[in-house]
Amino acid sequence: VRDGNGVKGMVDSGLSKVPEQYIQPPHERIVKLNASSVNELTPIDLSKIDGVDHEQVANEIVNAAEALGFFQVVNHGLPMELLESLKDAANNFFGQAPEKKAAYRKGVSPSPYVKYGTSFVPEKEKALEWKDYVSMVYTNDADALSHWPNECKEVALEYLKTSMHMVKKIVKILIEKLGVTLEDSKIDGLIGLTMVNMNFYPTCPNPELTVGVGRHSDMGTLTVLLQDGIGGLYVKVEEDMDAGKKGEWIEIPPIPGALVINIGDTLQILSNGRYKSAEHRVRTTSTQSRVSIPIFTIPKPTERIGPLPEVVASDGVARYREVVFGDYMNNFFGNAHEGKKSLDYA
Ligand code: SIN
Ligand code: FE2
Repeated sequence: VRDGNGVKGMVDSGLSKVPEQYIQPPHERIVKLNASSVNELTPIDLSKIDGVDHEQVANEIVNAAEALGFFQVVNHGLPMELLESLKDAANNFFGQAPEKKAAYRKGVSPSPYVKYGTSFVPEKEKALEWKDYVSMVYTNDADALSHWPNECKEVALEYLKTSMHMVKKIVKILIEKLGVTLEDSKIDGLIGLTMVNMNFYPTCPNPELTVGVGRHSDMGTLTVLLQDGIGGLYVKVEEDMDAGKKGEWIEIPPIPGALVINIGDTLQILSNGRYKSAEHRVRTTSTQSRVSIPIFTIPKPTERIGPLPEVVASDGVARYREVVFGDYMNNFFGNAHEGKKSLDYA
């Protein structure tokens, strides 16, 4: 296997064309979008979330969750310097010598909460993804946190801490707007497990044959994503919007200082399908590497997740069954990315 040092290791050692195992079947390849397909949706201004304009902001969030399942936010309270430091940290981590990164590979990592890897589930994939990552699961155990890589630890923890206020507010709004009242402890349970990933997409000699990440939806509740300025995050339009783009792929363009938020499967299930856990994917480029830094907020594995009874009552039908989230998660991580197939489990 040539990918022992990640895709980056392979690219650094010199490649003129993509190795066979990264070549996607034609229907999975990503055609580069032109500027007209860039999603012009205005970012949501979160500075107004607590004031007299609360209702307006809440409606903007709900509309985005029901239509595209993706939106961008500005004035989110995370300082610009923090966002810059995060991107630097990601580039520093992946810029290290191969053996430094390899120390966090599955089976040898000093902690079960830190993992460096490549692609998604390589043993299940027909074609591998052109991406390396390091994943850090949060626990409030200082000993576990001490194993987070030094290049990332401090900024990743700050990112997590400052984002969680925003995540909780957004999840609360989304639940309330379903006409449901949940206790605070229940909301906390829905975002009870968090992890920070740092993704690195090396330059690729044949972007037209590969994917950075293949089509998938996120399994959790809400994802917060910081992307750098390169672009290439594409989302499939599930619900018809004004522009009549149903079924098309549109790009979520990088906006300096903004964060991308997307709805995960858990919220689609809870809302009985009202909120969309959108299918998305990433294109690589031949000229520039890209970093992205998602925070995944997911339910605790012991949580039972199903359509909320009030929503089922008003819809007259439950579109999903109730699942134990740990089982849902194991199914998600036990299969290659395949669009929204993970939702078939519920
Ligand atoms: C992902 O959804 O897995 C990655 C998104 C990104 O890199 O922009
Ligand atoms: Fe994703």
